[in-house]
Amino acid sequence: MDWKLKTKSGNETKKLAMDLAKMLSGGEVICLSGELGSGKTTFVQGLAEGLGITMPIISPTFTIVREYIGRLLLFHVDAYRLSNLSAKDIQRQIGLLDYMERGGVVVIEWADLISDALPPERLEIIFEHTKDGRILNFVPRGEFYKRLVGELFRKGDEKK
Ligand SMILES: Nc1ncnc2c1ncn2[C@@H]1O[C@H](COP(=O)(O)OP(=O)(O)O)[C@@H](O)[C@H]1O
Ligand SMILES: [Mg+2]
Repeated sequence: MDWKLKTKSGNETKKLAMDLAKMLSGGEVICLSGELGSGKTTFVQGLAEGLGITMPIISPTFTIVREYIGRLLLFHVDAYRLSNLSAKDIQRQIGLLDYMERGGVVVIEWADLISDALPPERLEIIFEHTKDGRILNFVPRGEFYKRLVGELFRKGDEKK
């Protein structure tokens, strides 16, 4: 099954992320990839808003991980500068497993650059830049994420 949809504005991307945020219960790993300007940070802003986080989400480029408190903890990772490290060093740097154990939601920008260090079960979202919007390709890895994405798309259909 191909889970993809198109958003025509940053706000549409945010709304989609807010819908996803409401379905999360903590411990999830969401991996975003796609070129600069494709909407990854915009998506994280929607996730944060959906989790009731009021602090502004900024691009974490100079700090690798930022932590926010809302209905759940949100860990915002920017993997851009980690791409030349080994999987082991990446674990040491960002401690993904610790975050998951603390019951937070982990969202990673540029996740494709550190694919060796990612947990096998995760939700990948690949952003494509098109001239009139963005295409978001959802790739759920594992049964839990397949159900999650299935539910997200079903809710989207109901709204139409
Ligand atoms: N459909 C869309 N989805 C997401 N962002 C969009 C969309 N259309 C236009 N934009 C704009 O594109 C930019 C995306 O930037 P950003 O989210 O920072 O990308 P990235 O984190 O992938 O570099 C924002 O200025 C946003 O308002
Ligand atoms: Mg970004």
